[in-house]
Amino acid sequence: MISLIGMPGCGKTTVGRQLARRLRAVFIDSDRVIEERIGCSIRVLFEREGEEAFRAVEEATLDDLTRTGGGAVLSTGGGAVLRPATRMRLRERGQVVYLHALPDDIYRRLRHDTTRPLLQTKDPLQQLRSLYAQRDPLYRETAHFVIETGRPSVATLVNMVVMQL
Ligand code: S3P
Repeated sequence: MISLIGMPGCGKTTVGRQLARRLRAVFIDSDRVIEERIGCSIRVLFEREGEEAFRAVEEATLDDLTRTGGGAVLSTGGGAVLRPATRMRLRERGQVVYLHALPDDIYRRLRHDTTRPLLQTKDPLQQLRSLYAQRDPLYRETAHFVIETGRPSVATLVNMVVMQL
């Protein structure tokens, strides 16, 4: 399994989809699998039951997907690395790619996005900076290699990943 990790809006889903096509592999988006399991959107789960309830479902779902996913390309949610057990499973059960993006670049991309509950705050840029400070070390600890997003096109990013595999 090839897992893509990184901040919300770093391109995990877009790059993951293209990478899977290129490798003729199955593409799995863990957030979509979670939504199928819980029968509502992640946003609604956050509102009704809070972040910890979501994290528990996320951990269990990623455990199942990394155990059974074979050679698939897996795009994870930005907070997947928060649980130590998930960090270990991702790393031991496949190759992990960190798509690195800076908070200010992500902010420019996600400014008008309303689907991400963690960014529904008064100051989303500050929120992104603080999530980044907390998570960047965890992404680096979990990943086998880091890809700098930023300028390159999606096709170039896919090539950069393929060259590292
Ligand atoms: C989250 C990121 C989201 C989703 C959930 C929580 C996070 O996924 O899993 O809203 O904690 O950063 P994306 O990284 O695809 O936005």
